[in-house]
Amino acid sequence: MKQRTITVIFFNGLFLMLAGLMLFLPACSSDSEDDVTPDCNLENVTYSGTIAPIMVQYCNSCHSAAAPQAGIVTANHEGLSVVALDGRLLGSVNHDQGFSPMPKNMPKLAECPREQIAVWVNDGAPDN
Ligand code: HEC
Repeated sequence: MKQRTITVIFFNGLFLMLAGLMLFLPACSSDSEDDVTPDCNLENVTYSGTIAPIMVQYCNSCHSAAAPQAGIVTANHEGLSVVALDGRLLGSVNHDQGFSPMPKNMPKLAECPREQIAVWVNDGAPDN
């Protein structure tokens, strides 16, 4: 009888601890690193829906079709696919050695858009 009571107390305690952990962990992980987006969509990455808006926000001010810096156009698929397929797009946004870090004079893009760009490039940079 005594043994059983102790066992019940033990398992109740264990249960409460686990329940507490489950409440605590998600809240904790979503706050801890601002670089990681928990709901980063890597499933339906398209040029028009995903990549073009990133370029509008961070790149096209310098790489427009009309006045492209360094002759690189990020503002349309034709131009962007060139640097996507020759490796310079990923090299520059990931700040890899041997590439000019982009966006120039601005902080590195967050992990989510860089991963989305990688998905699109590895897909063959389709015009979709
Ligand atoms: C403030 C202007 C500016 C912005 C914003 C900018 N670029 Fe650039 N980009 C340049 C210039 C200038 C160069 C030529 C190299 C240099 O001066 O660093 C360049 C070079 C590049 C290169 C060639 C890199 C290499 O190593 O050969 C790529 C690819 C590129 N940019 C892509 C992008 C992308 C993608 C973005 C947005 C994430 C972006 N750029 C944002 C100005 C800019």
